[in-house]
Amino acid sequence: MRFYAVSGSAAQQRTDCAIVGLYESGTLSAAAAQLDATLGGRLARLVKRRDLRGKAGETLLLDVDGGPCERVLVVGLGKKESFGRKPYRKALLAAAAALVKTGARDAVSHLSSEPVAETDAYYRARLAAEAVGSALYRVPAIRSTRQPPAPALKSFGVALPAKDQLQDAGRGLEHGRGVAAGAALTRDLANLPANVCTPTHLAKQARELARQYRSIRAEVLDEPQLRRLKMGAFLSVTAGTEEPARLIVLRYRGGADGDAPVVLVGKGVTFDSGGISLKQPPGMDEMKFDMTGAASVFGAVKAAAEIGLPLNLIGVVPACENMPGGRATKPGDIVRSMSGQTIEVINTDAEGRLILSDALTYARRFKPAVVVDIATLTGACVIALGAHTSAVMSNDDDLAAELTAAGRRAEDRAWHMPMAEEYHEQLKSNFADFTNSCGREGGAITAACFLAKFTDGLRWAHLDIAGTAYLAGSQKGSTGRPVPLLMDFLIHRSRP
Ligand code: BES
Ligand code: MN
Ligand code: ZN
Repeated sequence: MRFYAVSGSAAQQRTDCAIVGLYESGTLSAAAAQLDATLGGRLARLVKRRDLRGKAGETLLLDVDGGPCERVLVVGLGKKESFGRKPYRKALLAAAAALVKTGARDAVSHLSSEPVAETDAYYRARLAAEAVGSALYRVPAIRSTRQPPAPALKSFGVALPAKDQLQDAGRGLEHGRGVAAGAALTRDLANLPANVCTPTHLAKQARELARQYRSIRAEVLDEPQLRRLKMGAFLSVTAGTEEPARLIVLRYRGGADGDAPVVLVGKGVTFDSGGISLKQPPGMDEMKFDMTGAASVFGAVKAAAEIGLPLNLIGVVPACENMPGGRATKPGDIVRSMSGQTIEVINTDAEGRLILSDALTYARRFKPAVVVDIATLTGACVIALGAHTSAVMSNDDDLAAELTAAGRRAEDRAWHMPMAEEYHEQLKSNFADFTNSCGREGGAITAACFLAKFTDGLRWAHLDIAGTAYLAGSQKGSTGRPVPLLMDFLIHRSRP
């Protein structure tokens, strides 16, 4: 897909499909009005007859004759007073979903010419490229029937009111394309079933990234190496499965040699059965998504390489299965983490924090500027924030604020949750340094408190994406989140 930026009147812009907006008040967007002049007032008539109402996300495809385009796609923008990032992105997603069903090979969106609140040319362009990229995504379905044909769309233009905005918009498109490519990789990996996407498969994909991009190196550690590193917490989770565990390290070099890297640590549990603390059957299939943190690290590293971000980035991915078995870790077992601290495993289903604890300890060797871990860590997070907002917890309020701001700008939201000393009490153990699990109260926070015991002296933040990583029900599938948030965070950090 090729993205480009243009300026000038919609009445002159030649394309297979012009995308224009209509507000709920019945007000045509500026571009819609311009175009309507070449269409003899057809759009205004549709509005007047109330065939078109401008409800957010509503679309109507018109075949037109004589104007600069063959098709006009009218998209509802919702209320004019509140037209900001969210309805803008929503309108683009709806437009793109309708567009890819047509035979149009090129389209130009004029939605970016509207006053999108608190958004500059860069973000209008970037959000457009991300939304179109996202709408074009297809699940790598494993079916015996033929896949539906690929959409005809080959190029997508974003229109800006002024010529001097084209450069910023071009940069936004380039970044948006990179973010979309990263998010597509995240979704591909997360959507694969656990019998395909094993730790071995993830390791293979890491090597593949290193093959595709000169700026990326991959290193894969196997179980004997993990034993030598004394990763007792990580190894305790993989003890019950036949599938070999891997620690995957991806290095993206875009900065100078001495630049302290950002380290992203991603939970890579390729299937979480709960282990001996076995989960209930309903929804257990969704635990193939328990490696989305890892997949988002892959996606972010790929996006960084696509964009050519001027910073150093390292991804650390502990990958394993959590299964019951004759050698599986049992509730009450005590394990020694790489940090030397001992853990009483009260619940084998609280496995994510165990593998992350050793990965966080491992991350120290990179002398990171900051460490951010990403994990589908707790069901409690889903109860607290639902499916729309990720949780951020950190030992550094400024870092947490950077991440939530990135989430707002990228329209991939996160909320800062507290992590005070009092919560740590809940992890007390009579037999070891602490336990891996406690009561249900504040479950997302106590999980973060557990991780905090391995991040002393690091600038560290934790993203719990259990609610946002994937959709359930008929829409079941990976969302590609939080790649947009992570990339916005990284792009902002890498600005000179
Ligand atoms: N992978 C799950 C968390 C999860 C739950 C992700 C729902 C996505 C949707 C995690 O390993 C887990 O099982 N957590 C336990 C922790 C508890 C035993 C302390 C949970 O949330 O129930
Ligand atoms: Mn679990
Ligand atoms: Zn899990």
